[in-house]
Amino acid sequence: MPTSSRIYLDYAATTPCDPAVVETMLPYFGEVFGNPSSIHRDGQRSWQAVEQARKSIAKVLNCHASELVFTSGGSESDNLALRGALLASEKSTPHLITTTVEHHAIGHTVAQLAKEFGCTATYLPVDSVGFVSTEQIRDAITPDTVLVSIIYANNEIGTIQPIAEIAAVCREANVLLHIDAVQAGSQLDLDVEALGIDLMSLGAHKFYGPKGVGALYIRNGTPISVVQTGGAQEQGLRAGTHNVPLIIGMGKAMELVQERRESYNARVKALRDTLVSRVLNEFEAVRLTGHPSQRLPNHASFVFDNVDGNALLMHLDMAGISASSGSACSTGNPEPSAVIKALGLPESWQLGSLRLTVGMHTTATDIDRTIDALHDIVPRLRGTQVRITPTVA
Ligand SMILES: Cc1ncc(COP(=O)(O)O)c(C=O)c1O
Repeated sequence: MPTSSRIYLDYAATTPCDPAVVETMLPYFGEVFGNPSSIHRDGQRSWQAVEQARKSIAKVLNCHASELVFTSGGSESDNLALRGALLASEKSTPHLITTTVEHHAIGHTVAQLAKEFGCTATYLPVDSVGFVSTEQIRDAITPDTVLVSIIYANNEIGTIQPIAEIAAVCREANVLLHIDAVQAGSQLDLDVEALGIDLMSLGAHKFYGPKGVGALYIRNGTPISVVQTGGAQEQGLRAGTHNVPLIIGMGKAMELVQERRESYNARVKALRDTLVSRVLNEFEAVRLTGHPSQRLPNHASFVFDNVDGNALLMHLDMAGISASSGSACSTGNPEPSAVIKALGLPESWQLGSLRLTVGMHTTATDIDRTIDALHDIVPRLRGTQVRITPTVA
């Protein structure tokens, strides 16, 4: 849980592990320690717990437990999806399609595959709110296309892509569709049948589970090769002794998040909407980034004209507020992120991004205190006047 003296508005970077999740994991750090691959009873106790966690997650995803591979997190799941599909492809010059607004776990992986592994890649642009168009995807598919990889909900700007429509295009063209659903875990529908996708990456620490564990959904029959070789764990698709406590924690976190999804979304959306309307009403020269409504319910992201986003983050931190300017991985980088650049904003706006993501422990007072802090900091950073108007809730 965040400490009471600070305000934590960075739930997109990571969430605190739910106490019920911690409690569920604890016996697997001590009393239940067997290797799930061992045939003796100690091993089998762990194996059963791992399989129970797999079933819990499969239920939420509406898939078979055998279609899930446990990994070390979202990045590994993304890597296995892309590299595994590429390795399994029989095409001589396999082609990948992705967008310009992906997390680095996709963007850097596609770039390396294109540079060093002889595949070709298309990076589709997005519109000013971060949407990729299905027509563009249809037009980009060639006879060599193996896989389309699209971020379900964007980590930096919150935009939710029309995955079911994209899936229909990929199905028609007989091309695999992978979605990076790492940010979607706590809030969006993860039913793989409704989404119509072939591969989906998840990471537990984004939905009140532990860090260092994730999963890749692989639709039955999808051609995929092993990337991490060694033992035969995870149906031969991911070698390495299972991280039993973390897998158990991920299963529990997924159960809890599914039970609470509706009330959680309603609560965070109300807080987020207040935050967005107050920022847009009370400050000059600020814009919302991402789609105004087709976005994660807990996600607010802005650009301030003529404000240094990193300085803004530092000042917020000194005021006791944890925020972000984009994804955690690019914090400290003075360059505008690729996602912000892709939105086509004028240059003076690009370095002024601020991401505020609310969650389980956020209160209305946290929002008020954050707005007060921004009133103090933003004018100092750019020397402009602040226009104060009543809040529209
Ligand atoms: C959209 C997206 N994909 C992938 C990742 C990487 O996940 P992990 O930190 O679990 O490796 C993140 C983490 O921020 C993310 O937001």
